[in-house]
Parts: sequence; C-alpha cells; structure tokens
Amino acid sequence: MNHKTNMTLAVFGLGHVGLPTALGFADLGWNVIGVDSDRSKVESLTKGHVPFFEDGVDSLLKKHLKSDKFVVSSDSNWAVNQADILFICVATPEYKDGSADISQIENLAYQLRDSIKSYKIVIQKSTTPVNTAEKIRIILSQPKENEEVQSADKFVDVVVIPEFLREGKAIEDFFNPQRIVVGLDDMSLKETIINLYMPLFQKIGKEEQDLMIFTDTRSAEISKNAANSFLATKLSFINMVSDLCLKVGANIDSVSRSIGADPRIGTDFLKAGIGYGGECLPKDLNSFIDSGKTNGVNFSILEEVQKVNDNRVTVYLSQIKDTLPNLKDMSFAVWGLAFKPNTDEIRNSPAINIINKLIEEYAKLRLYDPLAMPVFKNQIGTSELISFASDPIDAAVDSNGVLILTDWPQFKEQDLSKLFQVMKTPIIFDGRNMLDRDFVTESGFEYYGLGI
Ligand code: UDX
Repeated sequence: MNHKTNMTLAVFGLGHVGLPTALGFADLGWNVIGVDSDRSKVESLTKGHVPFFEDGVDSLLKKHLKSDKFVVSSDSNWAVNQADILFICVATPEYKDGSADISQIENLAYQLRDSIKSYKIVIQKSTTPVNTAEKIRIILSQPKENEEVQSADKFVDVVVIPEFLREGKAIEDFFNPQRIVVGLDDMSLKETIINLYMPLFQKIGKEEQDLMIFTDTRSAEISKNAANSFLATKLSFINMVSDLCLKVGANIDSVSRSIGADPRIGTDFLKAGIGYGGECLPKDLNSFIDSGKTNGVNFSILEEVQKVNDNRVTVYLSQIKDTLPNLKDMSFAVWGLAFKPNTDEIRNSPAINIINKLIEEYAKLRLYDPLAMPVFKNQIGTSELISFASDPIDAAVDSNGVLILTDWPQFKEQDLSKLFQVMKTPIIFDGRNMLDRDFVTESGFEYYGLGI
C-alpha cells in the first residue's frame, strides 16, 4: 500500500472526533467514506446538515459533499470493502464506576472482522484504556461465525493514532497538530502512515520528523490518557492554590502569571475558576484512574485531582451564600452554560451543576449562552424557576446577581453602566475570573472572583 496517492479511507463514528477527522482527510485529498450506524445522522449529513456545533465543520462538509471526496453511509460492509484504511472513531463513554465502556469499539471490531476480505489497516482514534488495541486485534483475528479458519488476522494491522482535538477547535487542531502519536506494533507500517499524513505535512510546510512520534500501541494509548489527566492535574493544582488566595486575599492571576513564566511550567491551563468539564477531561481522568487500579498502580494523585474539581462548585456556591444567605426567591442572571466558550457542549459543564444546586434552593435563574441554550432546553428541559434571555443584559434585568459560568469573550465586552442600571443589586460572581476586578468595582459593583 506504500505511497498510494488514491487511498480510500472509511471513518466509523461521525461524532466530534470522527466527522472532523473524516473531513480533514477529505480536504487533504483522500477519498473518505463516513460511516455511522445512526441513520438519521447519516441522512442529515448527506443533506449537508451537521447535527452538532463544531466550528468550520459545516463548510467543509458542504465543500466535500460537492467535491465527492466525502460520502456518508450507514452500510459498513460496503465501506469496509471500498476502503484501504479503516478509522475507529466511535464513542467510549464511562460506566458508573468510572471505567471506560469500550463495547461500541468491540461491536464495531466484530462487524469489521465479518466484512474484511482483503488487507486493511485499522486505526484506532477513539480514546481508550491501555490494551484496547490488543483486544481489537484479538477480535479481528477470531474466526468468523461458521468459519473454522482464522479470517482477518493475516489481513489486518491495528494502529493507534489518538486524537488530541479540542471541542470547538477540532478542525483548527486537525490542520495544526502539535504532534501525531502513532502506535504501531509492526514498524513496517511506518511508511504507509507517513504517506497518509504527507498531504498535511506539505500543506503546513512541516516534515514528518517535526510532528510524528512513533511508538508501540500501548504507549500511544497511555499518551492520550496521560495528556488529558495532566491537563486536569494542572487545573486542579491552580484551583487549589486559588482557594488559598481567596482565604488570604492574594491574587491567583498574578500567581499563575508568575509560575507560568517558567517554561517548564508554561502559562496554559492555569486559569483558576469553577473547574473543568466537558466530554473528555472528566471521563479520561476516570478511565486513567481505573487503568491504574486494574494494573495495581497507585494513581491517588489523580483521585485528588478529581476531588478538587468536584469541590469547585461548592466553593463557588459558598461565596454566593455568604453574600446572599437566603437564596429562595433571589434572582440570578446566569452567563454561560457550556463547559467552555465556542461550543454548545454542556455535558459535565460545571454551570449545569451550579444551576441544579441553585434550583434546589428555589433561586430564580435567567439564563444566557450564545450557543448552548437550545442544547440545554433539549437535554435538561426547563422549570418554572428558569427562563431564557436574549442577551447578557436581558438576563440581568431585576436580578440580585450575575453568575459568570463560561468565559465567553463577549461577557467582557458588556456595557457595565447599562448592567448596573438594570440589576436590582449590582453583584457579580465571576466563576471564570474573567473580568477586571478594579474596573468592575469602580463601576459600582460588588465583585467576587475565585481567588482574585
Ligand atoms: C480536551 C483536550 O484539551 C484535547 O486535547 C482532547 O483531545 C480532548 O479533551 P476539550 O475537552 O475540548 O479538550 O477541552 P479543553 O479545551 O481542554 O478545556 C477543558 C476544560 O478546562 C474546560 O472546562 C475549560 O473551561 C477548563 N479550563 C481550561 C480552565 O478552567 N482553565 C484553563 O486555564 C483552561
């Protein structure tokens, strides 16, 4: 398969990882078949509609449906037989005990095994606990039903190329990777994988050795788990320090800047606040803790990371209650629902947790988020204590406080004198430490950040 210029790729699972990956490779010139078992998703994508928000995906989808570089199908058997390389991008949700549920991957592996008739490379992109690639390899090498001889084994190689795409920036990250980790147990596959990424290297003017890290499949799986767990650790560390700043009247932003100036620490992921959320960090951390347990390794440091993050909501709510002890019938403007800006993702968003706790205390909430309100209505529903606003100022009319729960840049640009006029009591609880304390207090507000 070396140095083919007309390879066909099939990407299984068209979610936040699979769809950007499929469209990215189509944009690089490969023929790509996107496969999903959800027929309504396939139907919607075929018509050019992306069923979730991800910046840039919409236009790439339209472009490559038109260019014929990308087709969508629910017929996995057909796709397997058209393609040279098969990407596994299905979800790995978590079980209640925090371990990763890899059943979607296993079921897909059985399907692939039954369809494969000639040599394929199977690339595992889904985030998985260590040794999942080996499990896939074993499934692919088991005899098909009613067959005695081993079938796909001699036809299939399994490679792990974990995704490091951020939600909301998946396309940007696809085209500007910091590294491409490739886990191979057979180094003779190296050339084919380099060939797959060659159009990207040419496009961005980089060499393979600038970006590719070749290793074994287990190390590649651990690299992804460890990267997200390390990011979570950095966040819980700074959040822990911000609690001390809050207690003694110090400023966590200055501390972050001071320690981040050391390149061994780095400035990113040092913004203290109500904690991390989303589909990846919490789940990947839990799964990594479970891998430690399963393999008899003490990962207690990560258990503490999780505890610190879980406690962020309590720290934030205590601040509100210390200021406004009786929450019943208090009205709050909630600025931000998504777990971070530029996405409509609310899974594991600390904002949702805070909203639920305030509702339990009968506080009235008027919500605003530039993207996530439809998803909120859909997934969480509404209650008589909740209403939805058309903009941040509208959310604050007659309120006793503004709660900033997502650091959308537009929240910084609000007209503070207007805000002051519409609020019943001008108090801001800045859960993302995004406003300038001095500027806000000079404008007449009471201001509470988390350690600033
Ligand atoms: C993460 C990884 O960054 C990405 O590489 C991986 O592929 C998927 O998981 P994502 O879940 O999109 O990406 O979120 P990320 O941008 O990492 O942010 C995670 C959380 O940390 C958000 O809730 C964000 O608000 C919070 N955060 C981030 C902070 O609280 N402070 C910071 O300084 C940075």
